[in-house]
Amino acid sequence: MRILSGIQPSGKLHVGNYFGMMQPAIQMQDQAEIFLFIADYHALTTTQDAKILKKLTNDAVLDFLACGIDPKKTFFYKQSDVPEVHELAWLLSTVTPMGLLERCHSYKDKMSKGIPSSHALFSYPVLMASDILSINADIIPVGKDQKQHVEVTRDLAERFNNLFGEVFVIPKPSIKESVSVVPGIDGQKMSKSYKNTIDIFDSGNSLKKRIMKIITDSKDLHEPKNPKSCNIFSIYKLFANETEQKELAELYYAGGMGYGHAKTILYETIERYFAPMREKKLELVNNKDLVDDILSDGAKKASNISSDVLCRARLAVGLE
Ligand code: ADP
Ligand code: TRP
Repeated sequence: MRILSGIQPSGKLHVGNYFGMMQPAIQMQDQAEIFLFIADYHALTTTQDAKILKKLTNDAVLDFLACGIDPKKTFFYKQSDVPEVHELAWLLSTVTPMGLLERCHSYKDKMSKGIPSSHALFSYPVLMASDILSINADIIPVGKDQKQHVEVTRDLAERFNNLFGEVFVIPKPSIKESVSVVPGIDGQKMSKSYKNTIDIFDSGNSLKKRIMKIITDSKDLHEPKNPKSCNIFSIYKLFANETEQKELAELYYAGGMGYGHAKTILYETIERYFAPMREKKLELVNNKDLVDDILSDGAKKASNISSDVLCRARLAVGLE
């Protein structure tokens, strides 16, 4: 079984990225061969400033490694170091009905937020399909919002296989239901584009200020409160074990606890949770050679597999 996932370096990584995609993928490292990559070609659809793209890509590499990628178990690479995906994306685009792309929520959402439309933004799911199919991946751990893209990938692989013969493995999404939509500080899905994130590598006063901005109802200190409908508690649940959750829930139900207190508990918990990863990131910043070696090994392995898949696809369509 082979697992693959990727993330766009289009902003600082946040708690939604971490619990929705990074942690589930990292936890799979012990179960199967796993490929993880930083989708920098994809990020070009929204970040068109070379300096910024470079910085975001480097940060995403360090963040992912700091969060627990073990290069002995995982092939980790930058998408742009495996250019074979583009040739395969072209072959896939020849079996992609326009209607399939027109129905993609992610494209429609971006349009509704006023992000300028481009061919790359529209055809993004075809490149994503190529990322997946070029590695012969079976399982794709993602958050719920990426499910449709994996379904598009399955659809394209089946169409291609039916037309040209069995070339592609048909992948399946893996979505951890309990964290499929992590809420942001305003209760909507946490997302860079909603500006409601808590960033993984934020800390100290800046993190505290962010947490103090979590939106709650206006119940006063003495009133009993409902943890089930509270944004602070929904985020706390991600970090706390069952006993800790029960203890905080009891304070909610009892009354006499203000939301400020719950926010302080959440702040301290998050600060503690990510502390070892912040430390690891500092170590990595000072070890550029190690990071470069990891990326180069990952890209070599990914390129080997992709070249083989591409060769079979070229042969199947009649280019060889
Ligand atoms: P954003 O919405 O901030 O732009 P991305 O689209 O770059 O995030 O998502 C990267 C990965 O993290 C995807 O697999 C996505 O499904 C997952 N993810 C992002 N936000 C959340 C969230 N709030 N809850 C669960 N998973 C998420
Ligand atoms: N579309 C994904 C996102 O925005 C990133 C991505 C690109 C991806 N290619 C992929 C995820 C292949 C899983 C598999 O988060």
